[in-house]
Amino acid sequence: MCKQEILLSEHLAETLGKALDKCAYDKLFVLTDEHTHELCLPLVDTCLPAGRELITIAPGDCHKNLETLAYVWNELSNRKGTRRSLMLNLGGGMVTDLGGFAAATFKRGITYINIPTTLLAMVDASAGGKTGINFNGLKNEIGAFSPARFVLLDTEFLRSLDDENIRSGYAEMLKHGLISNTEHWAELLNFDPARPDYDALRSLVSRSVSIKERIVEQDPREKGIRKALNFGHTAGHAFESLALEQGRPRLHGYAVAWGIVCELYLSCLRTGFPKDKLRQTVQFIKETYGTFDFDCKQYDRLYEFMTHDKKNESDAVNFTLLADVGDIRINQTAGREEIFEMLDFYREAM
Ligand code: GLY
Repeated sequence: MCKQEILLSEHLAETLGKALDKCAYDKLFVLTDEHTHELCLPLVDTCLPAGRELITIAPGDCHKNLETLAYVWNELSNRKGTRRSLMLNLGGGMVTDLGGFAAATFKRGITYINIPTTLLAMVDASAGGKTGINFNGLKNEIGAFSPARFVLLDTEFLRSLDDENIRSGYAEMLKHGLISNTEHWAELLNFDPARPDYDALRSLVSRSVSIKERIVEQDPREKGIRKALNFGHTAGHAFESLALEQGRPRLHGYAVAWGIVCELYLSCLRTGFPKDKLRQTVQFIKETYGTFDFDCKQYDRLYEFMTHDKKNESDAVNFTLLADVGDIRINQTAGREEIFEMLDFYREAM
């Protein structure tokens, strides 16, 4: 896979202009959702070529599906897109995931650029080449590894992002802290995402995305070390799925934060993660994300969600665990009893 360039932008229109100059293309397609069409497109439109083609889709993860993808393919095809066309995805993870997959598959693949507009998309979804859609009731069931040519990060977008979405994206940053080094982890615990200092956030975002970049460079197709990026996600996805099933959906990052609590406990149990660092991280998560209520009657359902996670290669549940901050242990499996103990810990601690 060719390497993507991640550009931290000070003046978005200028940075985008330079990125466009480096891409040879015959026609530019700009994909937005209805929100980013209204709020974000005006910030970049001045530097786009006159003949740019706009494609707008409905917002929200529920539209990250085959129907929306077919709509985008249709627009690309009907408006005479070619193999040399360029796609610009402007939006959150839904737009960059679906737009990236549309670009990866149209005419067997066209070049694309991502401009993420949410914190979650900046530090995670838009970088690293994972593209796809939800299918058959399963998240990201269909997709491809296909990196953007450029990812443009402009943290000015975050000034108008709501508090819940800042906290949600911050959970992926906390994950990057835990899998990298103690200094960065401590810095993240000392930052208050509820009252963000945007200059400090900009530099944290830059460090965060470079942690992801380094891991993806070593293992773009998730055969080994990239599994570190799944830390907190095995339990996190189970919480997310249960919440959805119970009609009380929670943002992805909140579920990941709660998943981190579980998987740090499992890390203490199995790989000797230090108890004081568990305590400090749990405290931060409790204060920032509150908790997710469930009782022991839901343990079996949560366990079932974990066993169906697509990261499992057998019946055992696969986890990435930590022996310390930055000391990653991939391919750790746990059985039903340990998982139930982990859920007991979560309910006691939170
Ligand atoms: N979101 C995890 C990854 O990109 O691998």
